[in-house]
This record gives sequence, structure tokens and C-alpha cells, in this order.
Amino acid sequence: MTTPSVLFVCLGNICRSPLAEAAFRRVAEEAGLDAEIDSAGTADYHVGAAPDRRSIEEAARQGVDIRHYRGRQLVEADFHRFDFIIGMDRSNMANIARCEPPGGKARVAMLLDLVAGQEGREVGDPYYGGPEGFRRTWMEVEAGAKALLALFNEDRD
Ligand code: 4NP
Repeated sequence: MTTPSVLFVCLGNICRSPLAEAAFRRVAEEAGLDAEIDSAGTADYHVGAAPDRRSIEEAARQGVDIRHYRGRQLVEADFHRFDFIIGMDRSNMANIARCEPPGGKARVAMLLDLVAGQEGREVGDPYYGGPEGFRRTWMEVEAGAKALLALFNEDRD
């Protein structure tokens, strides 16, 4: 089987999608799944920047070091490279759709749509709130990561 690949996408690639990347890296590693995992933003505000300090702190609290992650912008080539492109909220989904070229292979979905009982819910933007928002973001992206892992495992079976 080829190595599955997933790209997590939010607006700035400094708060939510780096945490989703970190959570999925961890569940994939725990499951022994070799996957290509990355994150990107639909905007270019934070290209080359490290994650938000509050995301770095929340990831560290969960035992994951994300200080070396760097922001990048979603590009058309991502739709040919990744099996899954996963947005955090409806605004991300609209921005992703605007970037999608014809003939891409990526399956595009909103993260919590993959979680039983949480369909239609968004991973809200914690940027303008306090650290508790980042704890909530971690819980949401971790639930999404586990659901995505289950999907990958179905494809493996
Ligand atoms: P993210 O959060 O999309 O989860 O990375 C944001 C980060 C930065 C901005 C907005 C959202 N910003 O406007 O700079």
C-alpha cells in the first residue's frame, strides 16, 4: 500500500491546523501508521512563522513539540499530492474550494464531519481568546485525528 497522506488546513496555519497536525502525528505513530502529514493556511499572513505561542504551549502540555513547524500557504499542487485535505471550519472549506484545481485527487472534508455525533460542527478559531480556547481546540482536533485514523485503517483492511 502507498503511504497515505493528509493535509490539515485552517486560515493562518499558526493555531488550529498545527495542533491538528500534531494530534494526528501522535495517533498515527501510536497506531504504527506511516503517513505523510502536513498543515497549511489558506491565507499568507504567517508564511514562514512558527505556530502561535499558545498552540506551542498546548501541544507541549500534550507532550508534543511543535516549535519547529513553519506556516505555509495552501497551493494547487497540494490537491495532487495529498489523499485528504481537511479544513477546520466552513470558511476554510470555502477557501479550499476556491483553490482546488480540476483533476486533483484529494478528498476534501471538514474535520468534525468525520466524528460521529459532531457532524456539521466547526473547530472554532481560538486566535482572539485565551488559553482555554486552545485546550478546547486540542480536544476537537484529537477527536478528529482519531476518526481520520479509523478511516485510514478501513482503507488498509
Ligand atoms: P488559525 O488562526 O487559522 O487557526 O491559524 C488564526 C491565526 C491568525 C489569524 C487568524 C486566524 N490572523 O488573522 O492573523
